[in-house]
Amino acid sequence: MEASNLFYRDPALYDAVQEDNSAAATCQALIERHRPRAATLADFGCGTGRDLAILAKRFECVGVDLQPGLVEYAHRIRPALDIRIGDMRTVRLQRCLDAMTCLGNSLAYIHENDDISAVFATFAAHALPGALLVLCSPVSPIIRPEATSATVRTPTGSAQVTISYEWDLRTQINTMHRHWALPSGDDARDTVRRRVLFPRELEHYASSAGFEVLDMLNGPPSATLTGPVAYTVARYAP
Ligand SMILES: C[S@@+](CC[C@H](N)C(=O)[O-])C[C@H]1O[C@@H](n2cnc3c(N)ncnc32)[C@H](O)[C@@H]1O
Repeated sequence: MEASNLFYRDPALYDAVQEDNSAAATCQALIERHRPRAATLADFGCGTGRDLAILAKRFECVGVDLQPGLVEYAHRIRPALDIRIGDMRTVRLQRCLDAMTCLGNSLAYIHENDDISAVFATFAAHALPGALLVLCSPVSPIIRPEATSATVRTPTGSAQVTISYEWDLRTQINTMHRHWALPSGDDARDTVRRRVLFPRELEHYASSAGFEVLDMLNGPPSATLTGPVAYTVARYAP
């Protein structure tokens, strides 16, 4: 996974580029709305712990991520956070919590149906009665005939990034190809493969694991659901 994505090879760049990301604030607003007395939270696929650091100001938090490189970085940069190496398909923290999150498309890195069921079983295994689950994941594919380019600010200057997408309907994998022209003059390429789970599929996986979907919406919280990425809010009610 590390080889496929520049951000995983350079977690500091990942944090810098995502600095303005509002996922933690959106997530916190959703938890305040649906489970205002929540005190404990687990973030699955927490990456560098950027969102967890914000959420930890309000909740007692634990984070889990598959990649040792990201977890080592998180320990170095955010030593106060409890972040562990683990696979969200199988990890068991031996405790139940008020809220569980899976943000920044982490769920989309799970491609196979059985593995997705296993992830929802992990959510259920960590849920107190009435616990809230907040997912941020792709609910429709990005289909663009042409590549698009943008300038991205990085700590060492401006990078030019060119992005194109492929969509495979049979596997529901949306592949993003990114080409970076970095300020150093170097080039980098990544290929990110994300599984799209359409709203009714998410509903199915959630309800099979004992969660009732309360809301699906674009963020920051709005009443609409247009995709391609959405927040799903579900309550554990087995
Ligand atoms: C796009 S990143 C998002 C990270 C973080 N949630 C954020 O928003 O910055 C996806 C993350 O999912 C993690 N991941 C992928 N598969 C995983 C698995 N099976 N178990 C735990 N983490 C996983 C990756 O290591 C990566 O950190």
